[in-house]
Amino acid sequence: MAYTVTLIPGEGIGPEVAAAAQRIVEATGVQIEWRMAEAGVEPFERLGTPLPDATLDSIRETKVALKGPVGTQKGSSFRSVNVAIRRELDLYANFRPSRSVPGVRSRYSDVDLIVVRENTEGLYCGIEHEVAPGVVTSLRVMTENGCRRIVRFAFEEARKLGRKKVTAVHKANILKLGDGMFLRCAQEAAADYPDIAFDDVIIDATAMKLVLDPTQFDVLVMENLFGDILSDLTSGLVGGLGLAPSANIGSEVAVFEAVHGTAPDIAGKGIANPSALVLSAAMMLRHMGETQRGDAIEAAVRATIQEGETVTGDLGGKASTREFTDAVIAHLG
Ligand code: NAI
Repeated sequence: MAYTVTLIPGEGIGPEVAAAAQRIVEATGVQIEWRMAEAGVEPFERLGTPLPDATLDSIRETKVALKGPVGTQKGSSFRSVNVAIRRELDLYANFRPSRSVPGVRSRYSDVDLIVVRENTEGLYCGIEHEVAPGVVTSLRVMTENGCRRIVRFAFEEARKLGRKKVTAVHKANILKLGDGMFLRCAQEAAADYPDIAFDDVIIDATAMKLVLDPTQFDVLVMENLFGDILSDLTSGLVGGLGLAPSANIGSEVAVFEAVHGTAPDIAGKGIANPSALVLSAAMMLRHMGETQRGDAIEAAVRATIQEGETVTGDLGGKASTREFTDAVIAHLG
């Protein structure tokens, strides 16, 4: 079966890692027609918008997109492409797995957890108001529907992936209305999933516990800002941003992207580690029903890194992006 996927190569190292991901996906034998689309500073300067309608239309049509990182520009007229894509397409769930990779220098060797972050509400609604000079309010919007659907998403994913426990992360002791509602929705959802253990932990304690012993966690679900911060922390537990994939999932559409940015310091040098976007592409294939091919890509990336002979500079090696990509393709067999 042939698929159609929107590909946004992005900016900085984006086109380099996107080309690597494209080659590796194609090497599995899956038939994909890639529809190229643009976002970021370049279209902003040319068209006056960092997220052209044609890009959104393409994603709506293909329902699946692979996206490289895009730059940002300071100034109020440049809205965040990532926040805009998530809100325009109602990609309410951000799914970020963190799994230790043998061969990567890191404090832990046995981390295997998933952060599920609410992606469309909270402080990222961007509603701010200067009440008086020097006094600003930033509104954190939470809805019962938004809380319900994200906690149910976490339980559904946990069940689908054979996970054992969901932890709701919150600050309901202080934010009694907003986080109180989030916690209540999580407790109600837990009652419908008796096969999955459930607990809840306050956000600050979660940060401490994650650093002390991340193996006590399995699937963690939380609101937008908490998830933004903790998911970077969890990627640090397994070796950093160069290895962190993510998925933004809605009821209709899904966009897969690396967690890292455009890495201007190494852009154009051909030395970026493409693993994060390649692992995001593996998640994309699984989402499309191509589970075996997705698993094969993840296994090949892990094997290449574990072998350690052909890895990029961030992992302590000397390989170029192309050489690393060739090695992953060789491991695909
Ligand atoms: P960054 O993630 O681009 O870079 C941080 C550090 O990690 C740099 O030293 C970089 O060389 C390194 N790094 C990142 N990805 C790497 C990879 N694949 N291989 C090897 N090394 C890698 O974060 P920074 O510098 O804060 O942001 C740069 C630009 O990217 C900004 O304009 C920012 O807004 C944008 N950005 C875009 C994102 C997206 O589109 N999803 C996400 C994060 C940042």
